[in-house]
Amino acid sequence: MCGIVGYIGAKQAAPILLDGLDKLEYRGYDSAGMAVYDGKKIQFAKARGRLKILRELTHDGAKLPGCLGIGHTRWATHGVPSNTNAHPHFNEAETIAVVHNGIIENYARLKKMLVGKGYRFVSETDTEVVAHLLDYYYEGDPMDAICKAMQRMEGSYALGIIFMDHPGRLYAVRKDSPLIAGKAEDGCLIASDVPAILKYTRDVYFLQNEEIVCMEAGQINFFNIDKDPIEKTATTIEWDVSAAEKAGYEHFMLKEIYEQPKAVLDTLNPRIRNGKIEIEELGMTDEEIRAIHKIYMVACGSAYHTAVTAKYVFEGLARIPVETDLASEFRYRDPILDEGTLLIVVSQSGETADTLAALREAKQRGVRVLGIVNVVGSSIAREADNVMYTWAGPEIAVATTKAYSTQLVAEYLLAMKFAEARGTVTQQEIDDMLLDLRRLPQQIELLLDHKEKLQRFANRYVAARDVFFIGRGIDYAISLEGSLKLKEISYIHSEAYAAGELKHGTISLIEEGTLVAAVVTQKDLYKKTISNMVEVKTRGAFLLAVTNEGNTEVEKAADYVVYIPETNKYFTNSLAVIPLQIFSYYVALGKGCDVDKPRNLAKSVTVE
Ligand code: AGP
Repeated sequence: MCGIVGYIGAKQAAPILLDGLDKLEYRGYDSAGMAVYDGKKIQFAKARGRLKILRELTHDGAKLPGCLGIGHTRWATHGVPSNTNAHPHFNEAETIAVVHNGIIENYARLKKMLVGKGYRFVSETDTEVVAHLLDYYYEGDPMDAICKAMQRMEGSYALGIIFMDHPGRLYAVRKDSPLIAGKAEDGCLIASDVPAILKYTRDVYFLQNEEIVCMEAGQINFFNIDKDPIEKTATTIEWDVSAAEKAGYEHFMLKEIYEQPKAVLDTLNPRIRNGKIEIEELGMTDEEIRAIHKIYMVACGSAYHTAVTAKYVFEGLARIPVETDLASEFRYRDPILDEGTLLIVVSQSGETADTLAALREAKQRGVRVLGIVNVVGSSIAREADNVMYTWAGPEIAVATTKAYSTQLVAEYLLAMKFAEARGTVTQQEIDDMLLDLRRLPQQIELLLDHKEKLQRFANRYVAARDVFFIGRGIDYAISLEGSLKLKEISYIHSEAYAAGELKHGTISLIEEGTLVAAVVTQKDLYKKTISNMVEVKTRGAFLLAVTNEGNTEVEKAADYVVYIPETNKYFTNSLAVIPLQIFSYYVALGKGCDVDKPRNLAKSVTVE
């Protein structure tokens, strides 16, 4: 989604803004722009397309002098990607400049009101309404105008605002869209996400809903919507700038694929102590765990796919019913949430609008919410009753890999903890599982060593039109992720099917040479899935199988087999997904796709 950067200080703003926008590129965008106060007026530049066009247009920022500025990368929601719709947006006199992330849901009504009062609009965006609304309320006091505008706006917004009359101040405000502020040596900054300002400061303030920040004379002051000053404490970011850079890899996605052994280890290690599972942040006694009779797992995209896996693990180990839901469905379907229900929301960014809404819905109805989140201090992390962080570090590629893997292991640990508390597993079983969990990082490394073979295989499929992923049980959950990885970065049509469901329609799509990837890691289901593989093979499919070492039986049906090391049946996803990630990466690379920033996609989906 859109990215915001703002700077006020002693240095020239434009290069700092460009640098920050660079770091936010991963969020997905289709145009970019900046506005800088040059001592006389607010100058601006906007360009549809990649940031490098804005760089060229402004000679790397040199053409925009001045030490106060705001910058933006836009992911179009209202109005096509174009120079006119790109941010910043202005009031008619160009004395107020605004950049915005989010959606002003009542913008049509506000626009009608403003047009009625003689305001003229030049863009199709909802954001332009904000600039005119601020102008409408502005009588010399920016805070007053901002607070009045906030009372009128519905929806989600993170805004960076400059008032030409107050060139010594940078304003920003948030509601339901992420925004951070930080103080550096030579100035103050705002941004949508940490990587944009990490080069300048490690101490970051996370703005809460309806908080306003005013930066002036090297000071950062926070206010609530009633203009009362509020105190905030900074969070120190532990990870390094280099963690958000490519470190010699061609793409962030490849780098992040390779970071998985460490990410998995970092997520497991603090929670396994002296051979025991310790999840302090769960904040629940064994008795409280036993009082839970139903779990909802709610998330979007890949995070949802980990929840589908977790359902099998929780139900298998802890014998507790788990319902999985896409967050966008959950929030509107009036779910049955009673006492004894636990909602687990899973999110890398911690800002996904639908997941956040699901969390709020549950909390409002008195249900305890546990967040499995990667980004420290994110909205979901702050609003959930308890947070279990995944320690994947910053994930930049739009297609998730390492965050997905850490979500899985966090969920395994949770399920084991529940099983222990509920007495549904023996100590010996827990000990064996812990051994298997500890082996996962090394086993992932082993699979990564075979990437060349998969690259050669992937090269044969760059021209594929359709690819199907099939599996049963946990293998179905892995198929969902394999399929999403492929389609989101290579733009090849792909679908995941529960292998037993093929005969009910999908098999009619199989043609001579169609690639079908079968995931076959669940021993008790081997025979069943192999029969399904044979069914598609006899109809012309080319079969790729991902299976456990030793399952040579699969070779009867498969044309190409990738073996994964032996692990507990509940943990196979963590290994089987690796070859599927590598396969997708190389297919996309072979097709010349923008692997890290696939078209139309955003890293963090902060609008509904
Ligand atoms: C996965 O590769 C996608 N980028 C996407 O499905 C993602 O998992 C989804 O948008 C959820 O994001 P979150 O984990 O930040 O909530």
